[in-house]
Order: sequence, then structure tokens, then C-alpha cells
Amino acid sequence: MSNLSGQKIIVGVTGGIAAYKSCELIRRLADRGALVKVVMTPGAEAFVTPLTFQALSGSPVHTDLLDPEAEAGMGHIELARWADKIVIAPATANFLARLSQGRAEDLLSTVCLAAKADISVAPSMNQAMWINAATQKNLSLIEQLGINIVGPDSGDQACGDIGLGRMTEPMKIIAALELDSASNPLTGKKVVITAGPTLEALDPVRYLSNHSSGKMGYAIAMASVRAGAETVLVSGPVNLDCPLGVKRIEVTSCAEMQSAAMAEAAKADVFIATAAVADYRPEQASPQKIKKHGNEMAIKLVRNPDILAKVAALGDHLFCVGFAAESEKLIENASKKLISKNLNLIVANDISDQSIGFGSDENAVTLIGPDFELELGKSHKRLIARKILEVIGEEITK
Ligand code: C5P
Repeated sequence: MSNLSGQKIIVGVTGGIAAYKSCELIRRLADRGALVKVVMTPGAEAFVTPLTFQALSGSPVHTDLLDPEAEAGMGHIELARWADKIVIAPATANFLARLSQGRAEDLLSTVCLAAKADISVAPSMNQAMWINAATQKNLSLIEQLGINIVGPDSGDQACGDIGLGRMTEPMKIIAALELDSASNPLTGKKVVITAGPTLEALDPVRYLSNHSSGKMGYAIAMASVRAGAETVLVSGPVNLDCPLGVKRIEVTSCAEMQSAAMAEAAKADVFIATAAVADYRPEQASPQKIKKHGNEMAIKLVRNPDILAKVAALGDHLFCVGFAAESEKLIENASKKLISKNLNLIVANDISDQSIGFGSDENAVTLIGPDFELELGKSHKRLIARKILEVIGEEITK
């Protein structure tokens, strides 16, 4: 039996050509015993009539925010309270923009704003609209709100273009909803994640650092919250907002990251080190701004502690995950780190491929455990994060 059976699900339909696929989605949800109510935006009504969705869901369709008759029955607040889940499929670029801003100018966006239910969106739009920076910015805001983004898929589009932006097939959306409803081994566990770079001061105005964006660690933190874990992010300076539901501890240097990570990890179940910690720091940070003199300058650097190895030494109660960025002999070098740092899992990525990794939204990694190797193809960091947590969940329940 599907874990969606008996769940109260609002299917939100917005104005895109993929609205015809929502018919199949509603049918399949009803097959699984879900109780479905449909909310349509005015744009959606241009593609499919409310009557179609009424027949498929067996329930009146909701279309209007300012309809006194509808409000006398199941108004927007009642609808929001009723739902266990909300899935918006298709979600147009316009709707994603409204959702990202918390706007309440139509019934569906108002219900989303008032609901405590889990929200998923299945974006659908032309490929150029999908890759537009404005859409991508809206999507990261939506992600930070804890909303689940399913798809889109790549391929032929109704407008004749080929690329990313096709709404994911209904059965894949249902699989994502079922996965989200499944009991997760990480629920109630404490997960501590390090992310971003560290800054090692030379003097009050200068420092040594690296280009880590923190995106991988933040994506893992979001996936960890979704999995129901108490999530702590020990973050170096990055240009990212703290995801909803995450406790963030902001640090600057390796020393600060180490003390925060050790304190948090002492009572944690899982420790994931994604931070690009500076391997060396200036032996002394000058208290005054260093003046220039002569043509050369030497700075003595000393080795920073390995935070991950120190946390891993706290004991076997912790499941420890490291990242290994390698430019050659990927598997061999990462496997050596798995052993030398006493880890349960290492995520290896090949940094010789410049289209992925640092700063990018995509990555391609291989997960290596003591007795397995799992290669994940090039994919969005959000999906890689979910897969990493899925594997951790399986490993801690073995
Ligand atoms: O040895 P290497 O720097 O390649 O190891 C990378 C892994 O170790 C990453 O998970 C990184 O977050 C962690 N690390 C750490 N403290 C350091 C150096 C690396 O936690 N000083």
C-alpha cells in the first residue's frame, strides 16, 4: 500500500501547457488512496477546465480567492489547514516567483502561505525561462523555504525548444511524494555539517582563504532538515542564507570551526565535513596592518588541525563523512582518506572537470564506503545532497 493512502493532498495547477499531465497525476494519487482537492490559478483554467479536475478528484475545484460562496464553504484558511501535502504541478515561472516572495494574490499562493503542510513544486516552462537568472534566484529562495523541487526534466518542449524545463512525469512526482512521506532513518537524529571556506588572518585586514561557495554543505543541510534531522551548520563566511529549520553557527578561522564542530559533534549522530578548511594559517596574525617594504615578503605558515579527523576520533557513536576533492587517481586517493581519517563514508569529486564543483550548482561525485562504491552522474547539488543522506540513512540502520 502506498504511504500516500489517506493523506490529504492539494494539487495546485498553474497556467502551463503541462496542465494536461495534472489529470494523470490526480488519477494516480486517487488510485493510491490519497484524498485530493484541486486548486487552480486563473491561468490554469485557460488550459484545462475545472470540471475535468472535479470529475477526476471527486471534489469541487477551488479557483477563486474572493468568492464569497467558496469562502463560506472551504475557504483559503480551511484549505490550508486541511492539507497534509501540497503539490503544485505544473508550477510556472510566474508562480515560482510569487511563491518565492510569499505573495498572496490568488487562491493557490494564499493557501501556500497559510499552510503548514509540506509543499512540493514540479516546475514547467520554456528552457530559456528555466535557465534565466531570475528563475534560478527564485528557486534558491524557494529551496531555502524548505519547499521540495521535483524536476524539471530535459527534452522536447511544447514550444519546439529542446532543453530543461519539461514537467517531470506524474509517476516520478508521485515517487518523490512517497519518498518524502517514508519514515526516514535520520528523523530525530542530530546531523552536524561544516561548510564554506575558512579565513586565516594575516593582519586585521588581510587573510588567506579559498573559493569555496558553501553550496554543497548548505544543500546537505536542507536535505537533512527535510529528512527530519536536528541540523547544525558550522559555516565559514559564505554568501548564502541560513536554510529554514537549520541552526547555523558562523565561524571564520579553522580554529573557530574546530571548536564549534567538536562541541556540536559531541552529542551528534552524523558529522559531514564539506568545508574547504585552509590547510595552513599564518604562524602569527599581526595585530597591526602589515606595512609594505622591499620587493619580497615571506610569511611563515603553520599546519591547521584536521577538523574531520579530530571529530572522527570522538568515537564510534558518530557516523563521519568526508569530502575528497582530487585532481588525479580519484578513487585511490579518496579511499586512502577514508581509512586515514577513520571515516564511514567519503564523497569523492574530480576537480579536473572545471564545469562542476566550486561555485557551481552541479557536481558529479562517487560515494565510497568500506565495502561499496557508488558513482553519481553529473547532477544538481540538491539531488546529490539527498542521495548522500539516503546512503547515510541506509548505512546507519545496517
Ligand atoms: O585531506 P583533505 O583536505 O583532502 O580532506 C578533505 C576532507 O577533510 C573534507 O571533508 C574537509 O572538510 C575535511 N578537512 C577538515 N579539516 C581540515 C582539512 C580538511 O575537516 N583541516
